[in-house]
Amino acid sequence: MTTLQHQHTSLLHEDNNFKTAELYNEATEDYEFWSRDYNMHFGYYSPTRSNLFRRDSMLNEMNRQIFTRLTTNNNQTFADLGCGMGGTMRYGLRHFQNLSIHGVTLSEFQATEGNKMLAGLNGNIKIEDYNNTSFQSNSLDGAIAIESFCHSGHSNDSFAEAYRILKPGAKLVVSDAFLKKEIKDLCPGGSCCYKNLCNGWSLEKLGNIPSVKKSLEEIGFSNIVIEDISFRVAPSVLHVPFAISGFVLRKILNHEKLKAQTINNLKGSLFALLSGVQMNNFGYYIITCTK
Ligand SMILES: C[S@@+](CC[C@H](N)C(=O)[O-])C[C@H]1O[C@@H](n2cnc3c(N)ncnc32)[C@H](O)[C@@H]1O
Repeated sequence: MTTLQHQHTSLLHEDNNFKTAELYNEATEDYEFWSRDYNMHFGYYSPTRSNLFRRDSMLNEMNRQIFTRLTTNNNQTFADLGCGMGGTMRYGLRHFQNLSIHGVTLSEFQATEGNKMLAGLNGNIKIEDYNNTSFQSNSLDGAIAIESFCHSGHSNDSFAEAYRILKPGAKLVVSDAFLKKEIKDLCPGGSCCYKNLCNGWSLEKLGNIPSVKKSLEEIGFSNIVIEDISFRVAPSVLHVPFAISGFVLRKILNHEKLKAQTINNLKGSLFALLSGVQMNNFGYYIITCTK
């Protein structure tokens, strides 16, 4: 990448970070309607472990799936890169012993309220950019990024920073929606959903799976496993219209106005659903890779 291209990417990140912080400072509270545990992601349906009608059982199963892909021995320290309210961190800290987890987010609201919810657990949330953290190089036993790297467009900067902070042999686990092809190859319907999804949720862009794999290899990651879990995630995506209707109805009955960022968040959710059904264009993946 030339210096000019790098400066351009950094400016894009800066502009988007500002919008992302604004979105989550205002709209994070709304997620209580999505998840009592404040899991700000989609779920993983496992017939033996989750219930199709109980959303939090699928959202927490996603947390479990992520931790099972990290090596969870005793006395390990993980980073949650884009940790929201720390829902995944609390899951890990409650289910695995002698673990400590540091989360980073851009949102002041999430850091303040998330840290209150982490009281008594071995974790904390800081306000930092996951593209440029204060973690020491080669210091962490694992890193997680659930539906967070999409905000920086699954950029090389995010993966390279994760690589820097991991110890050799440690794993990065990313769970997110990706494109299956290049943006220019999307059909008009796909392109419309994609643009609205990115605008609503303040995403720079979504990476496409073949390019992301190539970037991870170039950065130096090995044992790259890419799992298409779209069908596991679909049942929780199908909860979106019901969750949105219930949420809006409650607001109307309480005579509450919808805030600008709440509307953006609802738009993002709706277009996530519309994108999710276009399985030729979009897919939901868990990527596990080793430094
Ligand atoms: C959809 S939420 C997911 C939160 C959490 N991973 C979860 O699953 O509950 C996206 C999170 O990514 C964070 N985020 C986005 N861009 C970021 C950046 N550049 N640096 C740090 N955090 C970022 C947001 O602040 C938010 O907490």
